[in-house]
Amino acid sequence: MKKKSIKDIDLKGKTVFVRVDFNVPIKDGKIEDDTRIRGALPTIKYAIEQGAKVVLASHLGRPLKDKKKAEEKGTPYDSAKYTLRPVAERLSELLESEVGFEGADIASQIATLAPGGILMRENLRFHPGEEKNDAEFAKNLAEGIDVYVNDAFGTAHRAHASTEGITHFVDTCVAGLLMEKELEFLGKALNDPERPFVAILGGAKVSDKIPVIESLIKRKVDKLLIGGAMAYTFFKAQGYTVGKSLVEDEMMPKALEIEAQAKAAGVELLLPTDHQVVDSYDPLNSRKAIQIEFTNAGLVGLDIGPDTAATFAKALEGSKTIVWNGPMGMFEEKPFDEGTIAIANAVAEATDNGATSIVGGGDSVAAVNQAGLADRISHISTGGGATLEFLAGDTLPGVAALDDK
Ligand code: 3PG
Repeated sequence: MKKKSIKDIDLKGKTVFVRVDFNVPIKDGKIEDDTRIRGALPTIKYAIEQGAKVVLASHLGRPLKDKKKAEEKGTPYDSAKYTLRPVAERLSELLESEVGFEGADIASQIATLAPGGILMRENLRFHPGEEKNDAEFAKNLAEGIDVYVNDAFGTAHRAHASTEGITHFVDTCVAGLLMEKELEFLGKALNDPERPFVAILGGAKVSDKIPVIESLIKRKVDKLLIGGAMAYTFFKAQGYTVGKSLVEDEMMPKALEIEAQAKAAGVELLLPTDHQVVDSYDPLNSRKAIQIEFTNAGLVGLDIGPDTAATFAKALEGSKTIVWNGPMGMFEEKPFDEGTIAIANAVAEATDNGATSIVGGGDSVAAVNQAGLADRISHISTGGGATLEFLAGDTLPGVAALDDK
């Protein structure tokens, strides 16, 4: 069911609550990646241009969980690292306009906002009611609000007070422009992809990706390329020696089941043929690329090898839809980012040649950005877990709660 959009309603003079996903990496008060902030700019600019009064709200990290853990361990808890203040400052720079910030009396700050004004609430997760989807807290968020806009695709898989509960207390609830774009690209790939459709999945654990893999096989993706440490669970299940590489032993039967499902559905499942390994006793100096079958007990696999990168790139040639989620190796540790970067280049190349490409997930998006390829990808999804849940075919509560068109 298509959802009503911010473009379908009149915003003039209305007080608009925009739920954004500004859960961005911040280190020592500095924003390390502002992709999500930039992603929300079209909606914010549109609302201001229409003469709305804009109240922005987001979460940042998991402060209450961190606090509880610190209390249990008797270690210090620093709430300051969870403030959204640096985000408000960055947003203000990007918009070249002032962004107010929540003070002691948010209700009167909202009531006195001028048309075109922007006010950012403090991290919603400082309140226990947010994650509990508490009705009182949701009602409180809705106070003084005429229109609710959800632009936080990255948080749409959570039924929280600001993503679901609030919609019971505001009459008009619509999707923002980023939300619409995400639903359009991902929805098309999932339900009506141009073919050949190739999915590339990576990451450490196959258990995280099972619902997505099964959903893609059910939808008869033409090719499924699996890299990253999750491939080792498949190899061990097939009887290969994988040395000290990461394996989820309990998932081995599932891996074999997935291979059988792919075969029955006519889906070409490709696993790596070679990998970059290190000797577990001398990890710094022993990197080498070997074929998977030559792995011995002392080795650890940390990236796909050059043959695999070439095979995967070839598999993308001529494709019309590509979905990629998850790194091909230990991306955060150079030079084990090479396989992931090679795939980023191959996806960009296939996009130049006519494919619609969608990249989601922290490391794959970081690879695309680091390699300077973002402009050559059709859509970079701002969702992590939300993208995976969407591709698994699940209904996202933050989307379901919006008004139907
Ligand atoms: C994300 O980064 O995936 C979203 O912002 C959701 O965050 P959460 O997993 O802490 O709910």
